[in-house]
Amino acid sequence: MGRRWGKTTFAVHELAEAALEKGGVYWWVGPDYESVDKGWWILMSALPEELIRKQRGGKPKVIEFENGSRIYFRTASNPNSLRGEGLSGLVMDEAAQIGSEAWDYVLKPSLVDHKGWALFIGTPYGRQSWFNELYRHGLSEDEEWSDWESFHAPSTENPFLDKNEINQMKKQLSDDVFRQEFEAEFLEDAGGVFRKISECVMGDYEPPEFGKKCVMGVDLAKHEDYTVISVLNHSGHLVYWDRFNQIDYTFQKARIISAARRYDAQVLIDATGVGDPIFDDLRHMIRVLPYRFTNKSKQELIMNLSLGMDKRVITFPHETQLITELEKFGYQISKHGNIIYAGTAGFHDDCVISLALAFWQLQHRWSIKHKGSEVAGIIY
Ligand SMILES: Nc1ncnc2c1ncn2[C@@H]1O[C@H](COP(=O)(O)OP(=O)(O)O)[C@@H](O)[C@H]1O
Ligand SMILES: [Mg+2]
Repeated sequence: MGRRWGKTTFAVHELAEAALEKGGVYWWVGPDYESVDKGWWILMSALPEELIRKQRGGKPKVIEFENGSRIYFRTASNPNSLRGEGLSGLVMDEAAQIGSEAWDYVLKPSLVDHKGWALFIGTPYGRQSWFNELYRHGLSEDEEWSDWESFHAPSTENPFLDKNEINQMKKQLSDDVFRQEFEAEFLEDAGGVFRKISECVMGDYEPPEFGKKCVMGVDLAKHEDYTVISVLNHSGHLVYWDRFNQIDYTFQKARIISAARRYDAQVLIDATGVGDPIFDDLRHMIRVLPYRFTNKSKQELIMNLSLGMDKRVITFPHETQLITELEKFGYQISKHGNIIYAGTAGFHDDCVISLALAFWQLQHRWSIKHKGSEVAGIIY
């Protein structure tokens, strides 16, 4: 099902119904505490008090009913810690995010004794995923899978969900992301923000061409990350690229100025926080504009690059670091339905941001006018 269809709410009720009617021990398993807390609160706020014998909100959370049956709420972050008694039933919330290990080695065996059932709920994550494999079991006509069943529904089926909100998301997201997250489709090439990366790899770095202006994007090193400089020519090819982790400002400025002058490039720079004084210094020496990051302005910047890559109007030489960062760049959807873009934990995203800043100018260059006043977030 798509996001906000009502999966969690529905599954909590299934679990409670089974516990109250059939008795036994049941588990709610989620990928993280957020999911576990949510399931717990939905249950606690729906249950009449007289049905509850005991409850404990610790780790794991557990509720015991008057009929002796129990529901445990646990995270799957450490599958081994999930070993326990025989279960009568089980829900895996956001199953695609939990993965096969917990199911294969721990959860599935725990259902054997009591011939327990399992309900896997979640939003699709690619055709190659374990969750898709499970989904196909349910569709299969094969005798082997006759006791499996699969269901599919888009988010719009939830009558309590504001249609405007969904339309808003549709505008903000790329087609693929919307199809995956809200229409609940298993996509061939899903998960990441940037697709067709390999199709954008082409050619070499190039020297400046006389009389041809370029655009440059700069992401400045903050603490442990890198300063990355990307220069695109007028046809969207990455002709110059530099990455270094010297955080000394004088050094950073010198590198930026030298590249900007050489390629006759207008520069768009991350002027958030410590970037602001650097921008201030640079504006007296080269043509430079500030980009201020908020969650929203970052989203627009990334979407612009993502669409540019889909259409292949941007190309770059085979630069391993850049390609890795593009591949690992992911997104999360917050509780409030906002998209939050970020490099996957453990991976940098400076190359992506720098390239996105350069490309933003290429797309908007002819409409950019330096009005001299500050505009939050975006360009002047
Ligand atoms: N049966 C229902 N009755 C009323 N509201 C519902 C019902 N099912 C879901 N909702 C509401 O829809 C929203 C999404 O539900 P949730 O269970 O969190 O969806 P999902 O797990 O699919 O993201 C929540 O605001 C929830 O309160
Ligand atoms: Mg949910």
